Parts: sequence; structure tokens; C-alpha cells
Amino acid sequence: MPEPTLRLLDLDDDDDVARAISTCAAALGWQDPPFDEALFRWKHQRNAFGSSLIVVAEDHEGFAAVRPFMQWRFRTAEGAVIRAVRAVDTATHPRARGRGLFRSTTTEALRIAHQRGIDFVFNTPNSMSGAGYLTMGWTEQGPIAIGARLTISGLIRTVRARRGASKRSSPTDVGIAAAEMLNDPAFDDRRPRTAGSTDHDAQSLRWRYSEGPIEYRGVRAGDGWLVFRLRARGPATELVITETIGSPDEAALRATIAGVLSSSGVDHALAAVDTPGFFATERVGPVLMTRDVGSEPSPVQWSMGDIEVF
Ligand SMILES: CC(C)(COP(=O)(O)OP(=O)(O)OC[C@H]1O[C@@H](n2cnc3c(N)ncnc32)[C@H](O)[C@@H]1OP(=O)(O)O)[C@@H](O)C(=O)NCCC(=O)NCCS
Repeated sequence: MPEPTLRLLDLDDDDDVARAISTCAAALGWQDPPFDEALFRWKHQRNAFGSSLIVVAEDHEGFAAVRPFMQWRFRTAEGAVIRAVRAVDTATHPRARGRGLFRSTTTEALRIAHQRGIDFVFNTPNSMSGAGYLTMGWTEQGPIAIGARLTISGLIRTVRARRGASKRSSPTDVGIAAAEMLNDPAFDDRRPRTAGSTDHDAQSLRWRYSEGPIEYRGVRAGDGWLVFRLRARGPATELVITETIGSPDEAALRATIAGVLSSSGVDHALAAVDTPGFFATERVGPVLMTRDVGSEPSPVQWSMGDIEVF
């Protein structure tokens, strides 16, 4: 069998995009074509941090492997911008596994990332790819700690909810649609920064929360906002607080979260690790892996919006 050739995917070519999505669907079990395409285009084509670097391995049957690096930007506590990429949607078609394509496409993507001045790669791989990354110079940084909060009425459903969450949001009329929040004259895109964090601005927040196929909502918290969504996890309904915008004081945060919890009727909630009223846990967050491309990854203060979905 001739060796597949490696090349960059052309995100402006609909044929290339359709073939990449079909390989990802076959490898990753995607089963919701219109939603999967909308999510792929949102993540890789329209990302406010820049379109993705995607290496494909092509043979006579199509794309045997797809290796996307999604662009991401962090800002250190000192204000320096760090250009990172996140390895997501890693896919070798079931017909082509075990032939080194994950390794060769990832090595090629790393070479191009280095050429483009990227500082580091990060990802939260599953058990299938994690071992492979370790053989390619990745370092396991351990689980990302997040904040969790239980409700008494939802305890039984939460206990039974030990599985992946739905990608789609569950409907709610609590708060306002994220697009409306972003257009509110009182909206301010400042985020609290105590350590390094994602370098969001108005444009990237708009992309993250109002331009994709997943619905988010916003609610005022003192002089800031909380961004959130509801989603199903097995029999449980989960509140995910994805972002705190501005600098609401602790009392405002606590009161707003209590209001959202009671009016949405969720069974439990997840939020950034330091959210008041939440307990810190490393048991539910994903394991972070990083690989230095140009410089050492610096510590990041993660929001749930950085972690979920990708
Ligand atoms: C994970 C996946 C991308 C590997 O693709 P592949 O092309 O078969 O992998 P390669 O042949 O290039 O293997 C590269 C290295 O990873 C290791 N590896 C690959 N799959 C592995 C597995 N399931 N368990 C342990 N190690 C694995 C290989 O041993 C190899 O190391 P080696 O060269 O030292 O032997 C592929 O199995 C896949 O698409 N899985 C389903 C989708 C998925 O889970 N993606 C990850 C999402 S985060």
C-alpha cells in the first residue's frame, strides 16, 4: 500500500473540510452531522485566535488521518501574550490505525507550529491518545482542578451521572442569551486576572459564546457578568459557569449563583476552581498535557470555558 502523503488542510476548500469531518466522524464517533459540521467550522475556521493548523494524511481513499492544532492565546499575569495551540479532534480513520499516522501528522504539525512562532501545545487527551503523546515529548501536568457544587435535591441523579456530558446545551430562560449580553451597553470585556489566563477580548468572547452552535447565556453579577449554560449529563442537569466577566465582589457572585441554581433547577454545578461556594476537586476535570514548542508553558488559571467543549 503506498504511504499517505502529508499536507495542510485548506479550510477555504469545502471539499477538504467535508473530507476532514468525515474522517473525524469515523474515528471519534460523531453522529450529529449538521451540529458536528457547525462545531468543526466554528472551532477551526472562525476561531477569533486564528484558524487552525490542520495536517492531513491523504491516500487514494481520502484522508486517513486528521491532525488539528487549534490556535489559542494566553496572557501572563505580567501582561505578556503567549501564542499556544491546542491539539483537538485527533483522528486516524479506523482503516489506517497502527501505521504511525498519528505520530507523523503530529510531528509535522509541531514542525509547522515551531516555524510559525507558537510557544507551546496543550491538550486534554483521552486514554487512546495520551500514551502516544508521551512518546512525542509531551508532559503530563495532571488533572485540572475545578470547582463543583452539589444540590440536595439532585444528589441521586448526580451520583448516577458518571459519564460524558451532552455537547448541546439544555434550554433555559434564566438570564439572557449571550449575544444579547455582549451587546448590552453595560457589558465590559474585562476579566479578573490573578495569574495567566486566556487572553480574551470582546471579539474572542463573541466568538466563544455567541457564534458557535452551542448556546450560552449571561446574567449580571454585581458590576460584572457570569456566562453559563445548562447541559445534560446522564440523568442529571448540570450548570456550567464558563466565565466571570468584570470583577463582581464575592457577595454579588454568591447571590447571583444562588439565584441561577434555584431558578434553573439544576442537579449540580461546575465552575472555575476558586468560585465562592464551590469545593475544589481534581476528580472531574480532564488531565492536562503540554509540549513546549518555543518556550515553557506558564501556569494558567483555567475557566470552565477554556476546558469544556474542546
Ligand atoms: C489515538 C489515535 C489517533 C492513534 O492513531 P494511530 O495513527 O493509530 O497511531 P500511531 O500508529 O501513529 O501511533 C503513535 C504512537 O502512539 C501509540 N498509540 C497509538 N494508539 C495507542 C493506544 N490506543 N494505546 C496506547 N498507545 C497508543 C503507538 O504505540 C505509537 O507509539 P510508537 O510509535 O512508540 O509505537 C487513533 O487510535 C484514533 O483516531 N482513535 C480514535 C479517536 C481518538 O480517541 N482520538 C483522540 C482524541 S483526544
